[in-house]
Amino acid sequence: MLEVRGLEAGYGKVQVLWGLDLQVADGEFVALIGANGAGKTTLLRTISGLIRPTSGTIRFRGAEITGRRPAEIVAQGIAHVPEARELFPLMTVQDNLELGAFARPAAWARAAQTLTEVYRLFPRLSDRRLQIAATLSGGEQQMVAIARALMSRPEVLMVDEPSHGLSPLMVQAVFAALREVSQSGVSVLLIEQNVRQSLRLAGRAYVMENGRIVLQGTGRDLLESPHVKEAYLRL
Ligand SMILES: Nc1ncnc2c1ncn2[C@@H]1O[C@H](COP(=O)(O)OP(=O)(O)OP(=O)(O)O)[C@@H](O)[C@H]1O
Ligand SMILES: [Mg+2]
Repeated sequence: MLEVRGLEAGYGKVQVLWGLDLQVADGEFVALIGANGAGKTTLLRTISGLIRPTSGTIRFRGAEITGRRPAEIVAQGIAHVPEARELFPLMTVQDNLELGAFARPAAWARAAQTLTEVYRLFPRLSDRRLQIAATLSGGEQQMVAIARALMSRPEVLMVDEPSHGLSPLMVQAVFAALREVSQSGVSVLLIEQNVRQSLRLAGRAYVMENGRIVLQGTGRDLLESPHVKEAYLRL
């Protein structure tokens, strides 16, 4: 479904991604783990069209989308929940969500139905639909960011560190929602520092170090991998 090959990208003269290969199949839940600065966010931003790669290709459903503009990428069905959430702070929860549906014409036509679905997924947001986004807790803001991406009815949902800064209970709620999204048939590419939980959730996972994939396998295999245990699961 989503295929990244030999991807190289960076910021000006600073190269961050060095020939990166990664795939997400239809309906698959894939986790990408790696230390701070490995280039995980840069990868998502490059797939989303926010950074133009210097080399390599990105294909979606067999068609090359490398170098397309962000609006075109979302319209194709690839949604990105950014690390910083980037809500519209002075708008209500519901207005933030409705804006997500504008990203794809087909999604806008079904916005009312999708809204019901995302409120079922995040009942906490349903209770707060008229609350101003800036006044939500961090966990609630993360829920809005995910729900807004879902409003575009994506085929691939890319989520950048949703557990960051959340209490354990909120992390559970967000991960449970991602599992449900995945079970509904949406492919998920999850970036996480919460290694143990994301490897349990994912069917397959990649380990990224210094802009390269150094290890890949099923979530279960990576949980047992000596390198993963040593570098990411030692507390
Ligand atoms: N806008 C930018 N300009 C210059 N360098 C950048 C920029 N954004 C990121 N970098 C650099 O690119 C490298 C990879 O950063 P990136 O944010 O992709 O890492 P990450 O794996 O997401 O890390 P984290 O887990 O801390 O979020 C880092 O060395 C970072 O300093
Ligand atoms: Mg990051």
